This record gives sequence, structure tokens and C-alpha cells, in this order.
Amino acid sequence: MSGRFDGKVALVTGAGSGIGAACAARLAAEGACVGVLDLRTAGARATAASIRARGGTAMALTCDVSDDKQVEEAVATLVTSFGRVDVLHSNAAVLDHGVYGRDRELETLDVAVWDRTMEVNLRGAMLMVKHTVPVMPDGGAMVLTSSVSALAGDTVHAAYGASKAALLGFTRYVATMYGARGIRCNAVAPALVLTPAAERALTPDQLAVKQAERLLPWACSVDDVASLVAFLCSDEARCLTGQTLVIDSGTLAHRPQHAVERWRSRP
Ligand SMILES: NC(=O)c1ccc[n+]([C@@H]2O[C@H](COP(=O)([O-])OP(=O)(O)OC[C@H]3O[C@@H](n4cnc5c(N)ncnc54)[C@H](O)[C@@H]3O)[C@@H](O)[C@H]2O)c1
Repeated sequence: MSGRFDGKVALVTGAGSGIGAACAARLAAEGACVGVLDLRTAGARATAASIRARGGTAMALTCDVSDDKQVEEAVATLVTSFGRVDVLHSNAAVLDHGVYGRDRELETLDVAVWDRTMEVNLRGAMLMVKHTVPVMPDGGAMVLTSSVSALAGDTVHAAYGASKAALLGFTRYVATMYGARGIRCNAVAPALVLTPAAERALTPDQLAVKQAERLLPWACSVDDVASLVAFLCSDEARCLTGQTLVIDSGTLAHRPQHAVERWRSRP
């Protein structure tokens, strides 16, 4: 096994499923020792076991990214085994029915939904950066997972969209504050990626509309996002920092007529 991340140590959050699991697997396949961090122990263990079964090196870490102490301990555990961190992919977000599913009309929004969304999606990314910067002695690469929801409004999910938009500003601050230390920070903003979480979180109508919004016949897969994340974390992207890379099969590149026509002509 050899590749762009030989000898590097990577930490991926929300890596127990979906996009994070694919990104952890890609970084490991290209040579990184990977910390597979998730709130759900079973998910983190499954991803780590699957990486090891393919000959890679991975350590499962159970951690709530919104908790300062837990993040500090998880990063310390990884560093005890692997010495440092070179790559951080902060990707965890709360997408369950109790929070994302209740992120609807603002007039009736439960403030707890807003707060938990911000705690996990935004504070979680900040805590990962806070505790990872000190263990990146030779510089490094960070990627934060945002969303096209950061760049366009919707009739639902204002808390989620606001948290993802804040991540784009945070990305530029991290890039600015730590560029001189050789730490790059970029964001990826995917449109719909058909992970089990996305399929659970969206109604059939919402899914159909999101499919109709694409310009290309194909949706982005978890592997498409993993390819972009791996590129951004690699030396091939050594001059890229503070940027947002939209990966959306053309979703944001047009005005609504296109989607309306496709919606009307759906089978
Ligand atoms: N799937 C999509 O369509 C899509 C589109 C745009 C952006 N995204 C973003 O991509 C990322 C991954 O999404 P996904 O579809 O793979 O979802 P997912 O639910 O499969 O992955 C998210 C992971 O984060 C973990 N997590 C949740 N709260 C956590 C916490 N407090 N601490 C640690 N881990 C926690 C979950 O257990 C889960 O394994 C998210 O940031 C999401 O907002 C997804």
C-alpha cells in the first residue's frame, strides 16, 4: 500500500458512516494512519475494522465533537499512538430526526434544535481545529465539510444551513490564523450525496426535488467527495487554502427553471 499519505496521520470525524467513512477509507488506502472518530462507537469500529481488513492502519475513537474535554482526549489518544496529526477532516454533523428533522419553520422552532445543530456542526469543527493545531508540528491540511445549504436558502433547515455557512467563514479564519505555520484549511460543499443518513433525513418529495436540481445525470457519491477531500489534503493542493470547493453536479450553477422543468417531466 503506497500513496499520497504515506507516513501521514489523519483524523476524520463523523467517520462511522457515509461521507466520513469513505474519506477515512480513501486516506487509509493512500497510506495514512487514520483516527476514525464518531459519536457512535459501533460505526467508528466498523469503519476502522474495514480499513484494517484492507491492510490499512486505523484506530476507532468514540467522541462527541461538541464536547471540549472529549475532543481533547480523543486527539491525545491518537497522538499517543501515532505521534502527531497531519490531516484533519472535520465532517461530523447532526442529521438525525430529533434535530435535523425538527429544523423547520422558524416561528415554532425549538431553540434546542438550533443549539444542538450549532454545537455539533460549528462548535464541533472549532474544537477539532483547537485541539489539532497544537499536534501538527510540521504543518498540515484541514478540510471542513460544509454543504450547498450554506450557499443558497431553502424552505427548511435554517439552523443547518446557518451552521454550514458559518463553517465557510471559520475556514477562512483558520486558513488566515495558521497559514504561516504551514497549515492549510479548506471547505467542501456537497449537494445531495445519497448516504443512508440523507435518505433517512429527507422526504421522497425533497429527494426528488434535489435530484431534479442537478445539471449532470449523475449525483455525487461518497467516493466523489472522498476524491476531492483527498486531493485537498494532499500536497497537490499545497497552494490552496481558505477556499470552498462546491461539489454538486451543477446544482448551484443555474436558476430554478431547470429544476422546475425536470420536476414537471419526472416519470
Ligand atoms: N449526504 C448529503 O447529502 C450531504 C450533503 C451536503 C453535506 N453533507 C455533510 O456531509 C457530512 C456527512 O454526512 P453524511 O450524509 O455522511 O451523514 P452521516 O450521518 O452518515 O454521517 C455523519 C456522522 O457524524 C456522526 N456524528 C453526529 N453527531 C456527532 C457528534 N456530536 N460527535 C461525533 N460524531 C457525530 C454520526 O454518528 C455519523 O456517523 C455532514 O457534515 C453533512 O452535513 C452531507
